[in-house]
Amino acid sequence: MEQNPNEESQKDQNPTEQSQVEQGPTEQSQNRQDQAEQISRKHVVAGNWKMFKTRDEAQATVREVVGLVGNIQNVDIVVCPPFTALGAVEEILTGSVVQLGAQNVHWQDEGAFTGEVSVSMLADYGCSHVIIGHSERRHYFQESDEVIQGKLEKVFSTELTPILCIGESLEAREADRVQEVIPSQLERALRELTDPQTSRIIIAYEPVWAIGTGRTATPELAEKVHFLIRSWLSDHSSVGVADQVRILYGGSVTPENAGQLIEQKNIDGFLVGGASLDAQSFAKIVQQSA
Ligand code: PGA
Repeated sequence: MEQNPNEESQKDQNPTEQSQVEQGPTEQSQNRQDQAEQISRKHVVAGNWKMFKTRDEAQATVREVVGLVGNIQNVDIVVCPPFTALGAVEEILTGSVVQLGAQNVHWQDEGAFTGEVSVSMLADYGCSHVIIGHSERRHYFQESDEVIQGKLEKVFSTELTPILCIGESLEAREADRVQEVIPSQLERALRELTDPQTSRIIIAYEPVWAIGTGRTATPELAEKVHFLIRSWLSDHSSVGVADQVRILYGGSVTPENAGQLIEQKNIDGFLVGGASLDAQSFAKIVQQSA
């Protein structure tokens, strides 16, 4: 069986203690940061269920989620079940504040693409969000930045909101290449988008070494990369666009670490994997983000 890419090159030391994003903010970007403090962005907490849960299991989980957080209005709450459970989950979510997302989509409207699903099929199930470019898709299914860019363009021709995942590998982190890798992923995915499109995107920063490993980035380390992402957006679009984009953190988020992470200025919510499979833990993360 293939090894989990998130675990394959891990060493004993915690990467969060080994290396840092080297450069601090410039004076110009610090000014932007100060302005951005005035802006309040609605938090987003999205649960990525990956390849877990049958229809019955999915309905039971989501019923519990709605019962626990169905009255929270100041957080966008999204669950992303596997395709096979979208219909079952939609039945439970109708009329609730919890929104439905998918984990992937194809870049064409329709055609001979065995095993794939289109944007209109997702809309048909009432999806409002779709995850694009998750590191597991990049690794196991060889999704390139170009493929991801094509998917984003297709999604922007609809009402769906994309959750674009980016993040560095452990190797890149240890080689202090975060400052190169993150802007290059952003450049390749976002270069064709207009400012109104960019302002609608949700970005999930998910360091690959933190996904499914129990190794969360420290709040300070995550904040540095979120700030780097927002500065990039500001330089390549505008301060106004950068201020609107919600940037989520993902990678071993739990009810225990969510509280400290969400206090960071540029962390606007979470993309949660493992902890979203349990309604109680997911609800606690949502409550801490409210
Ligand atoms: P994790 O997964 O919370 O289990 O680390 C996050 C993700 O893959 O989106």
